[in-house]
Amino acid sequence: MNQPPLEVAVVIPVFNERGNVADMVERIDAALAGRRWEAIFVDDDSPDDTAEAARALARADPRVRVIQRIGRRGLSTACIEGMCATAAPLVAVIDGDGQHDETLLPRMAAALEADPGLDLAIGSRFTSGGGTGDWDRDRVAKSAFATRLSRHVLKADLSDPMSGFFMIRSKLLRDLVPRLSGIGFKILLDVMTAAPRPLRFVELPYVFRTREVGESKLDHVVAMEYLIALYDRMFGRFVPVRFAMFGAIGALGVGVHMGVLTPIIALGGEAAFVPGQVVATLVAMTFNFFLNNALTYRDRRLKGARELAGGLLSFALVCSVGLAANVGVATYLHQGQSNYWAVSALAGIVVGAVWNFALSSRFTWGR
Ligand code: GDD
Ligand code: MN
Repeated sequence: MNQPPLEVAVVIPVFNERGNVADMVERIDAALAGRRWEAIFVDDDSPDDTAEAARALARADPRVRVIQRIGRRGLSTACIEGMCATAAPLVAVIDGDGQHDETLLPRMAAALEADPGLDLAIGSRFTSGGGTGDWDRDRVAKSAFATRLSRHVLKADLSDPMSGFFMIRSKLLRDLVPRLSGIGFKILLDVMTAAPRPLRFVELPYVFRTREVGESKLDHVVAMEYLIALYDRMFGRFVPVRFAMFGAIGALGVGVHMGVLTPIIALGGEAAFVPGQVVATLVAMTFNFFLNNALTYRDRRLKGARELAGGLLSFALVCSVGLAANVGVATYLHQGQSNYWAVSALAGIVVGAVWNFALSSRFTWGR
Protein backbone atom coordinates (compact mmCIF):
# COMPACT_ATOMS: atom_id res chain seq x y z
CA MET A 1 0.00 0.00 0.00
CA ASN A 2 2.62 2.48 1.03
CA GLN A 3 4.85 1.82 -1.90
CA PRO A 4 6.06 4.75 -3.98
CA PRO A 5 4.34 4.99 -7.38
CA LEU A 6 5.49 2.92 -10.33
CA GLU A 7 8.04 4.91 -12.34
CA VAL A 8 9.38 2.88 -15.23
CA ALA A 9 8.27 -0.14 -17.23
CA VAL A 10 10.80 -2.06 -19.26
CA VAL A 11 9.30 -4.00 -22.17
CA ILE A 12 11.36 -6.98 -23.30
CA PRO A 13 10.28 -8.66 -26.55
CA VAL A 14 11.44 -12.26 -26.52
CA PHE A 15 11.37 -15.14 -28.94
CA ASN A 16 13.31 -18.29 -28.02
CA GLU A 17 15.23 -16.50 -25.27
CA ARG A 18 14.64 -19.00 -22.46
CA GLY A 19 18.32 -18.88 -21.49
CA ASN A 20 18.33 -15.08 -21.22
CA VAL A 21 15.27 -14.08 -19.23
CA ALA A 22 16.70 -14.55 -15.72
CA ASP A 23 19.80 -12.54 -16.60
CA MET A 24 17.68 -9.76 -18.02
CA VAL A 25 15.73 -9.35 -14.79
CA GLU A 26 18.93 -9.33 -12.74
CA ARG A 27 20.48 -6.70 -14.97
CA ILE A 28 17.42 -4.47 -14.92
CA ASP A 29 17.17 -4.85 -11.16
CA ALA A 30 20.79 -3.74 -10.76
CA ALA A 31 20.44 -0.88 -13.25
CA LEU A 32 17.21 0.51 -11.79
CA ALA A 33 18.09 -0.02 -8.12
CA GLY A 34 16.30 2.56 -5.97
CA ARG A 35 13.48 3.07 -8.47
CA ARG A 36 10.09 1.42 -8.76
CA TRP A 37 10.02 -0.51 -11.99
CA GLU A 38 8.33 -3.42 -13.69
CA ALA A 39 9.62 -5.67 -16.45
CA ILE A 40 7.16 -6.93 -19.08
CA PHE A 41 8.25 -9.86 -21.19
CA VAL A 42 6.30 -10.14 -24.43
CA ASP A 43 6.69 -13.60 -25.89
CA ASP A 44 5.19 -14.92 -29.11
CA ASP A 45 4.60 -18.47 -27.91
CA SER A 46 8.26 -19.46 -28.41
CA PRO A 47 8.86 -23.16 -29.07
CA ASP A 48 11.52 -23.17 -26.31
CA ASP A 49 8.81 -22.08 -23.84
CA THR A 50 10.42 -18.76 -22.96
CA ALA A 51 7.04 -17.71 -21.58
CA GLU A 52 7.09 -20.41 -18.90
CA ALA A 53 10.66 -19.49 -17.92
CA ALA A 54 9.51 -15.87 -17.56
CA ARG A 55 6.42 -16.89 -15.58
CA ALA A 56 8.63 -18.83 -13.18
CA LEU A 57 10.47 -15.55 -12.50
CA ALA A 58 7.18 -13.68 -12.20
CA ARG A 59 5.88 -16.06 -9.54
CA ALA A 60 8.87 -15.22 -7.38
CA ASP A 61 9.00 -11.49 -8.17
CA PRO A 62 5.81 -9.46 -8.72
CA ARG A 63 7.78 -6.79 -10.60
CA VAL A 64 8.04 -9.27 -13.47
CA ARG A 65 5.09 -9.65 -15.84
CA VAL A 66 4.53 -11.85 -18.86
CA ILE A 67 2.43 -11.41 -21.97
CA GLN A 68 2.27 -14.57 -24.07
CA ARG A 69 0.77 -13.95 -27.50
CA ILE A 70 -0.54 -17.06 -29.15
CA GLY A 71 -0.96 -17.25 -32.92
CA ARG A 72 0.92 -14.07 -33.72
CA ARG A 73 4.50 -13.09 -34.50
CA GLY A 74 6.30 -9.82 -34.85
CA LEU A 75 8.86 -7.80 -32.93
CA SER A 76 7.24 -4.38 -33.45
CA THR A 77 3.72 -5.44 -32.52
CA ALA A 78 5.09 -7.27 -29.47
CA CYS A 79 6.78 -4.04 -28.33
CA ILE A 80 3.62 -2.02 -28.95
CA GLU A 81 1.42 -4.37 -26.94
CA GLY A 82 3.94 -4.47 -24.11
CA MET A 83 4.17 -0.67 -24.00
CA CYS A 84 0.37 -0.37 -23.87
CA ALA A 85 0.18 -2.79 -20.95
CA THR A 86 1.73 -0.64 -18.25
CA ALA A 87 0.52 2.02 -15.81
CA ALA A 88 4.03 3.49 -15.51
CA PRO A 89 4.49 7.00 -16.95
CA LEU A 90 7.73 6.01 -18.67
CA VAL A 91 8.25 2.90 -20.75
CA ALA A 92 11.42 1.51 -22.30
CA VAL A 93 11.98 -1.18 -24.90
CA ILE A 94 15.10 -3.33 -24.67
CA ASP A 95 16.21 -6.52 -26.45
CA GLY A 96 15.93 -9.69 -24.40
CA ASP A 97 19.35 -11.05 -25.35
CA GLY A 98 21.59 -8.67 -23.40
CA GLN A 99 22.84 -6.82 -26.49
CA HIS A 100 21.48 -3.45 -25.37
CA ASP A 101 23.23 -1.72 -22.47
CA GLU A 102 20.68 -1.65 -19.66
CA THR A 103 22.88 0.67 -17.56
CA LEU A 104 21.49 3.46 -19.78
CA LEU A 105 17.99 2.99 -18.35
CA PRO A 106 18.37 5.24 -15.26
CA ARG A 107 19.91 8.00 -17.37
CA MET A 108 17.08 7.73 -19.89
CA ALA A 109 14.54 8.08 -17.09
CA ALA A 110 16.42 10.97 -15.49
CA ALA A 111 16.58 12.84 -18.81
CA LEU A 112 12.83 12.51 -19.32
CA GLU A 113 12.03 13.50 -15.74
CA ALA A 114 14.30 16.54 -15.87
CA ASP A 115 12.79 17.98 -19.05
CA PRO A 116 9.00 17.70 -19.46
CA GLY A 117 9.34 18.90 -23.07
CA LEU A 118 11.36 15.84 -23.99
CA ASP A 119 9.42 13.00 -25.67
CA LEU A 120 11.94 10.19 -25.73
CA ALA A 121 15.46 9.11 -24.86
CA ILE A 122 17.16 6.93 -27.44
CA GLY A 123 20.13 4.59 -27.12
CA SER A 124 22.45 5.23 -30.07
CA ARG A 125 25.39 3.27 -31.42
CA PHE A 126 26.42 6.14 -33.66
CA THR A 127 26.92 9.12 -31.38
CA SER A 128 30.35 9.57 -29.86
CA GLY A 129 30.96 6.93 -27.24
CA GLY A 130 28.65 4.44 -28.96
CA GLY A 131 29.53 1.53 -31.21
CA THR A 132 28.46 -1.65 -32.92
CA GLY A 133 30.80 -3.91 -30.96
CA ASP A 134 32.15 -6.87 -32.88
CA TRP A 135 29.92 -6.64 -35.95
CA ASP A 136 31.57 -7.84 -39.16
CA ARG A 137 31.99 -5.57 -42.17
CA ASP A 138 28.99 -7.12 -43.87
CA ARG A 139 26.54 -6.35 -41.07
CA VAL A 140 27.96 -2.82 -40.66
CA ALA A 141 27.41 -2.20 -44.37
CA LYS A 142 23.86 -3.60 -44.33
CA SER A 143 22.94 -1.55 -41.28
CA ALA A 144 24.39 1.61 -42.86
CA PHE A 145 22.38 0.93 -46.03
CA ALA A 146 19.17 0.43 -44.03
CA THR A 147 19.87 3.65 -42.14
CA ARG A 148 20.38 5.53 -45.41
CA LEU A 149 17.09 4.19 -46.76
CA SER A 150 15.31 5.33 -43.60
CA ARG A 151 16.23 8.93 -44.42
CA HIS A 152 13.48 8.86 -47.03
CA VAL A 153 10.81 8.63 -44.38
CA LEU A 154 12.53 10.17 -41.37
CA LYS A 155 12.74 13.94 -41.07
CA ALA A 156 14.49 13.98 -37.69
CA ASP A 157 18.25 14.22 -37.37
CA LEU A 158 18.62 10.92 -35.57
CA SER A 159 21.98 9.14 -35.65
CA ASP A 160 20.62 5.62 -35.05
CA PRO A 161 17.01 5.17 -36.23
CA MET A 162 17.62 1.39 -36.44
CA SER A 163 18.15 1.16 -32.70
CA GLY A 164 15.52 -0.83 -30.88
CA PHE A 165 16.49 0.63 -27.49
CA PHE A 166 14.66 3.69 -26.17
CA MET A 167 12.42 5.10 -23.46
CA ILE A 168 9.26 7.09 -24.19
CA ARG A 169 6.40 8.68 -22.25
CA SER A 170 3.76 5.98 -22.19
CA LYS A 171 0.84 8.39 -22.73
CA LEU A 172 2.48 9.69 -25.92
CA LEU A 173 3.09 6.14 -27.10
CA ARG A 174 -0.56 5.19 -26.59
CA ASP A 175 -1.66 8.26 -28.56
CA LEU A 176 0.60 7.22 -31.44
CA VAL A 177 -0.53 3.59 -31.63
CA PRO A 178 -3.30 4.13 -34.22
CA ARG A 179 -0.67 5.60 -36.54
CA LEU A 180 1.90 2.82 -36.15
CA SER A 181 2.34 0.23 -38.89
CA GLY A 182 3.76 -2.41 -36.54
CA ILE A 183 5.50 -4.07 -39.47
CA GLY A 184 8.84 -5.81 -38.94
CA PHE A 185 11.66 -5.03 -36.49
CA LYS A 186 12.04 -1.26 -36.56
CA ILE A 187 9.74 -0.06 -33.81
CA LEU A 188 11.72 3.13 -33.13
CA LEU A 189 11.59 4.21 -36.76
CA ASP A 190 7.87 3.44 -36.77
CA VAL A 191 7.33 5.65 -33.69
CA MET A 192 9.51 8.49 -34.98
CA THR A 193 7.75 8.64 -38.35
CA ALA A 194 4.24 8.19 -36.96
CA ALA A 195 4.09 11.36 -34.89
CA PRO A 196 2.14 14.27 -36.41
CA ARG A 197 4.70 16.69 -34.96
CA PRO A 198 8.49 16.39 -34.69
CA LEU A 199 9.34 14.51 -31.51
CA ARG A 200 11.93 15.90 -29.12
CA PHE A 201 14.57 13.34 -28.21
CA VAL A 202 18.03 12.94 -26.70
CA GLU A 203 20.48 10.29 -27.80
CA LEU A 204 22.64 8.47 -25.28
CA PRO A 205 25.58 6.42 -26.57
CA TYR A 206 25.91 2.68 -25.99
CA VAL A 207 28.01 -0.11 -27.39
CA PHE A 208 26.05 -3.00 -28.92
CA ARG A 209 27.09 -6.13 -27.03
CA THR A 210 27.72 -9.60 -28.39
CA ARG A 211 24.95 -12.12 -27.96
CA GLU A 212 26.13 -14.85 -25.58
CA VAL A 213 23.08 -17.14 -25.53
CA GLY A 214 20.55 -18.04 -28.24
CA GLU A 215 20.33 -16.86 -31.84
CA SER A 216 19.40 -13.70 -33.71
CA LYS A 217 16.03 -13.70 -35.46
CA LEU A 218 17.10 -11.22 -38.10
CA ASP A 219 16.84 -12.98 -41.46
CA HIS A 220 15.81 -12.34 -45.07
CA VAL A 221 12.15 -12.13 -44.14
CA VAL A 222 12.97 -9.42 -41.58
CA ALA A 223 14.96 -7.54 -44.23
CA MET A 224 12.01 -7.74 -46.60
CA GLU A 225 9.65 -6.59 -43.87
CA TYR A 226 11.84 -3.54 -43.43
CA LEU A 227 11.33 -2.58 -47.08
CA ILE A 228 7.61 -3.22 -46.69
CA ALA A 229 7.50 -0.94 -43.64
CA LEU A 230 9.24 1.82 -45.62
CA TYR A 231 6.80 1.35 -48.50
CA ASP A 232 3.92 1.59 -46.03
CA ARG A 233 5.18 4.92 -44.67
CA MET A 234 5.72 6.37 -48.14
CA PHE A 235 2.78 5.08 -50.17
CA GLY A 236 0.60 3.03 -47.80
CA ARG A 237 -1.97 5.81 -47.71
CA PHE A 238 -2.59 5.49 -51.46
CA VAL A 239 -2.20 1.76 -52.07
CA PRO A 240 -2.18 -0.44 -48.93
CA VAL A 241 0.84 -2.73 -48.60
CA ARG A 242 -1.14 -5.93 -48.76
CA PHE A 243 -2.96 -4.94 -51.92
CA ALA A 244 0.32 -3.87 -53.55
CA MET A 245 1.83 -7.28 -52.76
CA PHE A 246 -1.28 -9.11 -53.89
CA GLY A 247 -1.20 -7.17 -57.17
CA ALA A 248 2.53 -7.75 -57.73
CA ILE A 249 2.10 -11.48 -57.13
CA GLY A 250 -0.87 -11.47 -59.50
CA ALA A 251 1.35 -9.92 -62.17
CA LEU A 252 3.94 -12.66 -61.59
CA GLY A 253 1.10 -15.14 -61.98
CA VAL A 254 0.43 -13.77 -65.45
CA GLY A 255 4.06 -14.56 -66.27
CA VAL A 256 3.63 -18.11 -64.94
CA HIS A 257 0.45 -18.51 -66.98
CA MET A 258 2.19 -17.50 -70.21
CA GLY A 259 5.21 -19.63 -69.33
CA VAL A 260 2.97 -22.70 -69.07
CA LEU A 261 0.73 -21.91 -72.04
CA THR A 262 3.52 -21.15 -74.52
CA PRO A 263 5.15 -24.62 -74.62
CA ILE A 264 1.72 -26.32 -74.61
CA ILE A 265 0.75 -24.44 -77.76
CA ALA A 266 4.18 -24.97 -79.29
CA LEU A 267 3.69 -28.70 -78.89
CA GLY A 268 -0.03 -29.11 -79.51
CA GLY A 269 -0.78 -26.27 -81.91
CA GLU A 270 -3.99 -24.19 -81.95
CA ALA A 271 -6.07 -27.20 -80.91
CA ALA A 272 -4.27 -27.19 -77.58
CA PHE A 273 -5.34 -23.65 -76.75
CA VAL A 274 -8.39 -24.36 -74.62
CA PRO A 275 -6.99 -27.25 -72.57
CA GLY A 276 -3.68 -25.33 -72.34
CA GLN A 277 -5.51 -22.28 -71.04
CA VAL A 278 -7.23 -24.40 -68.38
CA VAL A 279 -3.96 -25.97 -67.23
CA ALA A 280 -2.12 -22.62 -67.25
CA THR A 281 -4.91 -21.00 -65.21
CA LEU A 282 -4.79 -23.74 -62.60
CA VAL A 283 -1.00 -23.61 -62.33
CA ALA A 284 -0.92 -19.81 -62.09
CA MET A 285 -3.68 -19.78 -59.50
CA THR A 286 -1.92 -22.38 -57.37
CA PHE A 287 1.32 -20.42 -57.68
CA ASN A 288 -0.46 -17.24 -56.59
CA PHE A 289 -2.10 -19.00 -53.68
CA PHE A 290 1.18 -20.29 -52.24
CA LEU A 291 3.06 -17.05 -52.79
CA ASN A 292 0.31 -14.99 -51.18
CA ASN A 293 0.21 -17.45 -48.33
CA ALA A 294 3.95 -17.10 -47.77
CA LEU A 295 4.24 -13.33 -48.27
CA THR A 296 1.05 -11.27 -48.39
CA TYR A 297 -0.58 -13.16 -45.53
CA ARG A 298 2.55 -14.45 -43.77
CA ASP A 299 1.14 -13.24 -40.45
CA ARG A 300 -1.88 -15.51 -40.84
CA ARG A 301 -0.23 -18.19 -42.94
CA LEU A 302 -2.19 -21.39 -43.50
CA LYS A 303 -0.23 -24.47 -42.49
CA GLY A 304 -0.64 -28.23 -42.80
CA ALA A 305 -2.31 -30.23 -45.57
CA ARG A 306 -5.90 -29.64 -44.45
CA GLU A 307 -5.65 -25.87 -44.05
CA LEU A 308 -3.76 -25.55 -47.32
CA ALA A 309 -6.23 -27.67 -49.29
CA GLY A 310 -9.20 -25.74 -47.87
CA GLY A 311 -7.42 -22.46 -48.56
CA LEU A 312 -6.62 -23.39 -52.14
CA LEU A 313 -10.22 -24.41 -52.78
CA SER A 314 -11.66 -21.19 -51.38
CA PHE A 315 -9.03 -19.18 -53.29
CA ALA A 316 -10.10 -20.96 -56.51
CA LEU A 317 -13.75 -20.12 -55.85
CA VAL A 318 -12.99 -16.48 -55.11
CA CYS A 319 -10.81 -16.19 -58.21
CA SER A 320 -13.38 -17.72 -60.54
CA VAL A 321 -15.92 -15.12 -59.46
CA GLY A 322 -13.18 -12.48 -59.84
CA LEU A 323 -12.55 -13.73 -63.35
CA ALA A 324 -16.23 -13.44 -64.21
CA ALA A 325 -16.26 -9.86 -62.84
CA ASN A 326 -13.13 -9.06 -64.82
CA VAL A 327 -14.55 -10.33 -68.12
CA GLY A 328 -17.96 -8.81 -67.42
CA VAL A 329 -16.62 -5.32 -66.75
CA ALA A 330 -14.20 -5.45 -69.69
CA THR A 331 -16.94 -6.62 -72.08
CA TYR A 332 -19.35 -3.94 -70.90
CA LEU A 333 -16.79 -1.14 -71.35
CA HIS A 334 -15.59 -2.53 -74.65
CA GLN A 335 -19.05 -2.43 -76.25
CA GLY A 336 -19.17 1.36 -76.09
CA GLN A 337 -15.63 2.35 -77.09
CA SER A 338 -14.09 -0.41 -79.16
CA ASN A 339 -10.96 1.68 -79.88
CA TYR A 340 -9.87 1.48 -76.29
CA TRP A 341 -9.78 -2.27 -75.87
CA ALA A 342 -6.64 -2.03 -73.68
CA VAL A 343 -8.38 0.39 -71.30
CA SER A 344 -11.37 -1.94 -71.07
CA ALA A 345 -9.10 -4.90 -70.40
CA LEU A 346 -7.17 -3.03 -67.71
CA ALA A 347 -10.35 -1.87 -65.98
CA GLY A 348 -11.50 -5.50 -65.96
CA ILE A 349 -8.21 -6.62 -64.46
CA VAL A 350 -8.35 -3.98 -61.71
CA VAL A 351 -11.93 -4.85 -60.79
CA GLY A 352 -11.09 -8.57 -60.77
CA ALA A 353 -7.98 -7.98 -58.63
CA VAL A 354 -9.82 -5.85 -56.07
CA TRP A 355 -12.52 -8.48 -55.89
CA ASN A 356 -10.03 -11.34 -55.44
CA PHE A 357 -8.14 -9.38 -52.81
CA ALA A 358 -11.17 -8.34 -50.79
CA LEU A 359 -12.77 -11.76 -50.78
CA SER A 360 -9.66 -13.87 -50.32
CA SER A 361 -8.51 -11.75 -47.39
CA ARG A 362 -11.93 -12.29 -45.85
CA PHE A 363 -12.57 -15.97 -46.70
CA THR A 364 -9.26 -17.63 -47.59
CA TRP A 365 -7.04 -15.94 -45.01
CA GLY A 366 -9.70 -14.55 -42.70
CA ARG A 367 -9.73 -15.78 -39.14
N1 GDD B 1 7.98 -11.27 -29.11
C1 GDD B 1 8.84 -11.33 -30.12
N2 GDD B 1 8.38 -11.68 -31.36
N3 GDD B 1 10.15 -11.04 -29.92
C2 GDD B 1 10.99 -11.11 -30.97
C3 GDD B 1 10.58 -11.48 -32.26
C4 GDD B 1 9.19 -11.77 -32.46
O1 GDD B 1 8.73 -12.10 -33.55
N4 GDD B 1 11.66 -11.44 -33.08
C5 GDD B 1 12.70 -11.09 -32.32
N5 GDD B 1 12.32 -10.90 -31.04
C6 GDD B 1 13.13 -10.49 -29.89
C7 GDD B 1 14.37 -11.34 -29.66
O2 GDD B 1 14.10 -12.45 -28.85
C8 GDD B 1 15.30 -10.35 -28.98
O3 GDD B 1 15.03 -10.24 -27.61
C9 GDD B 1 14.94 -9.03 -29.65
O4 GDD B 1 13.63 -9.19 -30.15
C10 GDD B 1 15.91 -8.64 -30.77
O5 GDD B 1 15.96 -9.69 -31.71
P1 GDD B 1 17.33 -10.28 -32.29
O6 GDD B 1 16.97 -11.45 -33.12
O7 GDD B 1 18.33 -10.44 -31.19
O8 GDD B 1 17.72 -9.12 -33.28
P2 GDD B 1 19.10 -8.39 -33.61
O9 GDD B 1 20.07 -8.48 -32.50
O10 GDD B 1 19.57 -8.82 -34.92
O11 GDD B 1 18.52 -6.91 -33.83
C11 GDD B 1 18.42 -6.02 -32.83
O12 GDD B 1 19.36 -5.03 -33.08
C12 GDD B 1 19.01 -4.07 -33.99
C13 GDD B 1 20.12 -3.10 -34.17
O13 GDD B 1 20.71 -3.33 -35.37
C14 GDD B 1 17.02 -5.45 -32.62
O14 GDD B 1 16.95 -4.86 -31.35
C15 GDD B 1 16.66 -4.35 -33.47
O15 GDD B 1 15.49 -3.72 -32.97
C16 GDD B 1 17.79 -3.39 -33.49
O16 GDD B 1 17.46 -2.36 -34.33
MN1 MN C 1 20.03 -9.50 -30.70
